[in-house]
Amino acid sequence: MWAGWWLWPLVAICTADRFQEEAKKIMQASPLIDGHNDLPWVMLKRFQNQLGSKEADLNHLANTHTNIPKLKAGLVGGQFWSAYVPCDTQNKDAVRRTLEQMDVIHRMCQKYPETFVCVTNSKGIRQAFQDGKVASLIGVEGGHSIDSSLGVLRALYHLGMRYLTLTHSCNTPWADNWLVDKGDDKAQSQGLSLFGKSVVRELNRLGVLIDLAHTSVATMKAALNLSVAPVIFSHSSAFQLCQHRRNVPDDVLQLVRKNGGLVMVNFYNDYVACQQQATLSQVADHLDHIKKVAGAGAVGFGGDFDGVSRVPTGLEDVSKYPDLIAELLRRQWTEEEVRGALADNLLRVFEAVEQASNHSSPPSEEVIPREELEDSCRTYYGYSEASSLHRQPGALLASLATALLSLRLL
Ligand SMILES: *[C@@H]1O[C@H](CO)[C@@H](O)[C@H](O)[C@H]1NC(C)=O
Ligand SMILES: *[C@@H]1O[C@H](CO)[C@@H](O)[C@H](O)[C@H]1NC(C)=O
Ligand SMILES: [Zn+2]
Repeated sequence: MWAGWWLWPLVAICTADRFQEEAKKIMQASPLIDGHNDLPWVMLKRFQNQLGSKEADLNHLANTHTNIPKLKAGLVGGQFWSAYVPCDTQNKDAVRRTLEQMDVIHRMCQKYPETFVCVTNSKGIRQAFQDGKVASLIGVEGGHSIDSSLGVLRALYHLGMRYLTLTHSCNTPWADNWLVDKGDDKAQSQGLSLFGKSVVRELNRLGVLIDLAHTSVATMKAALNLSVAPVIFSHSSAFQLCQHRRNVPDDVLQLVRKNGGLVMVNFYNDYVACQQQATLSQVADHLDHIKKVAGAGAVGFGGDFDGVSRVPTGLEDVSKYPDLIAELLRRQWTEEEVRGALADNLLRVFEAVEQASNHSSPPSEEVIPREELEDSCRTYYGYSEASSLHRQPGALLASLATALLSLRLL
């Protein structure tokens, strides 16, 4: 009896190792796809998108959640990189700034071809897995990036956008954001306006994933009702476990189950635990909950690394993913369920979105009605100088110069 006593810690250690080893084995065959990483934003903020600067070298980049050695240690095989521009660029230079963030993602792929490969479809992801590279995709975070134009939406698609988050933390003229549910913003579109519905249909037609992270619950429900393809939440957790409005409530999780969609869990402490501290185990609780309510086919990872200031103990950076997988195995997730969360669920959703797309059907020519643009200074073809002045201080100078010049010429 006493002999068994001192053996217990040893047994515990060996069991822990068993899950670790099993996690790594599964991930080597089926690497992880993460739904949301803000490294491109770090490149802008710290290096003005100058990837060539010495400190920006992704092989050695310090003080970030993400770099190449950490991605390799974390067995990350696919990443939606976020092309994010802040809400205060709305109706200003959002489109230009979005193009620059998409460009920096393309340049990451170009600069590190042994690590990254930019892909735009599910086949490309599978090929990258085989080649041992990180399949890199572009998610545009925030509907303000299309400046209420389906033409811009299509142009972004052609440049590689494969998900569009319908809102960031601000309303667009056509979709409401989560701050409406918090009471900090006014409902404007009651979910999606008529033009917002055209946006969803156009995303379906093109084969772009519809991302409902950051949106209001009414927007989630409207998009889930309208989309003919599964939708995703690229970086959101479960409202039932932490009553933060950025999280997904259970009734929406049930709709996600019906829709065949996917919720990729966000690791930000404030969404995981509703406080500044959180743990890996609490993240696993969110995964368990989403699995229970929406089904094992609806679970994924959207760590929000390098986009948040606090991450859980045990999930300090992207290298820690295998520890989270080990925890799921400890909680008796089957290998199939784990593979689903790692990559199979996202691949299934992406393939369904591709299947539902229809490039032979004509592009929508709908324009946003003027009344939906009440707060914006957007201009039309027969536009007035006055409204264009609001857009950028530079425009004011340019217009002044033009005015002076034309006076002289007259
Ligand atoms: C879903 O869409 C149908 C039309 O296709 C509409 O009648 C119904 O009210 C919508 N439901 C919700 C909850 O938006
Ligand atoms: C695609 O769109 C075309 C043109 O609108 C239509 O004729 C065709 O039936 C559509 N295909 C599918 C699979 O829906
Ligand atoms: Zn976000």
